[in-house]
Amino acid sequence: MIGVFDSGLGGVTVLKELIKKMPNEHFVYYSDSINNPYGDKTKEEVIKLSDKVTRFLIDKGCKIIVIACNTASCSAREYLRKKYKDIKFIVTEPAVKRVYDDNKNANMLVLATERTINSENLKELIEKYHTKNTYLCSMQHLADLIEEEKDDEIDNLLDEKLSKYSDKNIDSIVLGCTHYPLVKDKIKLHFKNAKLYDGAEGVAKQAKRIFEKEKIGSNNKLEIDFYDSKDNKREKLFYKLLSRR
Ligand code: DGL
Repeated sequence: MIGVFDSGLGGVTVLKELIKKMPNEHFVYYSDSINNPYGDKTKEEVIKLSDKVTRFLIDKGCKIIVIACNTASCSAREYLRKKYKDIKFIVTEPAVKRVYDDNKNANMLVLATERTINSENLKELIEKYHTKNTYLCSMQHLADLIEEEKDDEIDNLLDEKLSKYSDKNIDSIVLGCTHYPLVKDKIKLHFKNAKLYDGAEGVAKQAKRIFEKEKIGSNNKLEIDFYDSKDNKREKLFYKLLSRR
């Protein structure tokens, strides 16, 4: 059983890749909607919430846990790995290295939550993999607006935030929050020639490697259990987002 969690439904973009690589496994998805967004919280608060979700997933029988949230990954991964030594944690991080590997001369724009933008992890990643020009932009509230499907407000926020980079010749955009691929077409409208990068495929590859190494017996068919801390009726929206291209 593989646990997958996010502050909400954004982790579906990671789950989708996990299913592509492991189509016959049993996933337990936990959406912590009642505490969404994580991006506005302190590191300590995010650790506390991630710990609670982790205990829930362990109680369900998960031995591998995918943190399908950049914000929780950068804030809580060290704490969780230290505390739960028998559990394999797979983390999501902004795909800065993928851009660097593709083009060291890139004009790269990293979009993420406030917490991720200010994290040590991102700082270290940028020091190691900065390209010709690297810009960081906190997209505070974008994840919550995506959760609530507030299309007009999403458009306004993107206009306000992204117009500042319209003269920067941006050619590579890192979607450093698992919610953002859900509005990739809208982001693309602002940077027609830019390539978009997210961390989901890398996470899925790593999860598959660990799954095989740990020799955890296969399930023979796809199963998904969905839990939401606010309202399990959100399952309908979860499946809608999971099936979106
Ligand atoms: N989906 C989460 C991430 O990848 C964050 C959303 C939030 O702010 O809760 O960072």
